[in-house]
Amino acid sequence: MTQPSSTATAAALDEGNGSMTLSAPASGGSWDMQIFPGTEGPSVIDVRRLYADTGLFTYDPGFTSTASCESKITFIDGDEGVLLHRGYPIEQLAEQSDFMEVCYLLLHGELPSPKQKQEFEHAITYHTMLHEQMLNFYRGFRRDSHPMAIMCGVVGALSAFYHDSTDINDPYQRMVAQHRLIAKMPTIAAMAFKYSIGQPFVYPRNKLSYAENFLHMTFSVPAEDYQPNPVLSRAMDRILILHADHEQNASTSTVRIAGSSGANPFACIAAGIASLWGPAHGGANEAVLMMLEEIGHKDRITEFIARAKDKNDPFRLMGFGHRVYKNYDPRATVMRKSCHEVLDELGSRDEPLLALAMELERIALEDEYFVEKKLYPNVDFYSGIILRAMGFPTSMFTVLFAMARTVGWVAQWTEMIEDPNQKISRPRQLYTGPVRREYLPIDQRS
Ligand code: SDX
Repeated sequence: MTQPSSTATAAALDEGNGSMTLSAPASGGSWDMQIFPGTEGPSVIDVRRLYADTGLFTYDPGFTSTASCESKITFIDGDEGVLLHRGYPIEQLAEQSDFMEVCYLLLHGELPSPKQKQEFEHAITYHTMLHEQMLNFYRGFRRDSHPMAIMCGVVGALSAFYHDSTDINDPYQRMVAQHRLIAKMPTIAAMAFKYSIGQPFVYPRNKLSYAENFLHMTFSVPAEDYQPNPVLSRAMDRILILHADHEQNASTSTVRIAGSSGANPFACIAAGIASLWGPAHGGANEAVLMMLEEIGHKDRITEFIARAKDKNDPFRLMGFGHRVYKNYDPRATVMRKSCHEVLDELGSRDEPLLALAMELERIALEDEYFVEKKLYPNVDFYSGIILRAMGFPTSMFTVLFAMARTVGWVAQWTEMIEDPNQKISRPRQLYTGPVRREYLPIDQRS
């Protein structure tokens, strides 16, 4: 990167009267900018007029210090390890609520009354079936296709079948699109799994709960009766709650940016799925399992910790670290407790991968590098162990993350669409490429 040409100084950062003065002599002066406080967390400096007034851009690759929007949905305090959905702590929701209720809360801002919850669950239940012609998409994929590739394709294709819920300016159509996406993701996900193992698709059953229905569509076969295990159904429901929304993470920001152009909701969620797939984001749960299997034995933990600390080695401890959490991810704590419950229920208390993960966590959290960089286990560190014990292949882990995060994506998408200040997202850049030069015909080039 080029060297700084001059410096601007914040002459007066006065949160008291809500303003900051920026002094940039090289650009000809100083400017006052407003400071807006949040109800929780950091205040923001309003830089919307910065370029118009100063000719300067802000520079923040990866948006480490940038609030891209105003939101009322989820609050994270990374230093304290706090996660609130519409003000309710994730620990209380995971323990006392259920996924359908959390979906309603994220979408509408309040916990539902018994009647509201019953109506919402009915709406979701009666949208779980997929247009029968969509099943043809699966047969176009190789059996060994990664299910996330199938999810990207099939979810994007929903807009080819559900034209009556693609008008983003119609509140009713937005609501139907929300319900269809939340309702159909388990069906699409289960079908991707069934297709990969050559078993027939299993259709949803309206008498089952959301989590039970998903386990039924995934693990039942026509040849036998299937009763969802109540402990596993509750664990599945809790895993969905823990992954439902998480402020302006990479995939949610992708959905917001896609939606800012006016793209239909199905295309926006397909974009979110694509972003979530990366191993630095939602693909980490699959990468954690692969890492634990590569480590294999606790005697090799030290070797991998050393690799994670080696700047010349691209290896990172998957499931550790977070852009926001510089303390324990509160979801990881709940996930670890669920891990023990599920393994106890399945009689796999001595699952070697769990013992290895806990030993890896213990050693890492005592290591100066991880302590100094505030690298703690995140939501992905334990989730894969539970999912594998429940019978999911590692390739399905990120699919489950996408299934759960769909409600967060559609809630954030709706908030963006309904924001009166909403406009197309179009960042600028720091250009350091060639200055203007004249074209040279090829017969004059050496
Ligand atoms: C999710 O944003 C969200 O909210 C995401 C999520 C959600 O619910 O939507 O919470 C879900 O994506 C959780 C994160 C899952 N990813 C992983 O577990 C992959 C491993 N983690 C890292 O790749 C990393 O921690 C990130 C990507 C999660 C965060 O990276 P940042 O914030 O960009 O931090 P960084 O890469 O600048 O790291 C800071 C320092 C670096 O060292 P220095 O260059 O300062 O010397 O910490 C080091 C990094 O090298 N570091 C790690 C590490 N994570 C960061 N070193 C070893 N192992 C790691 N896991």
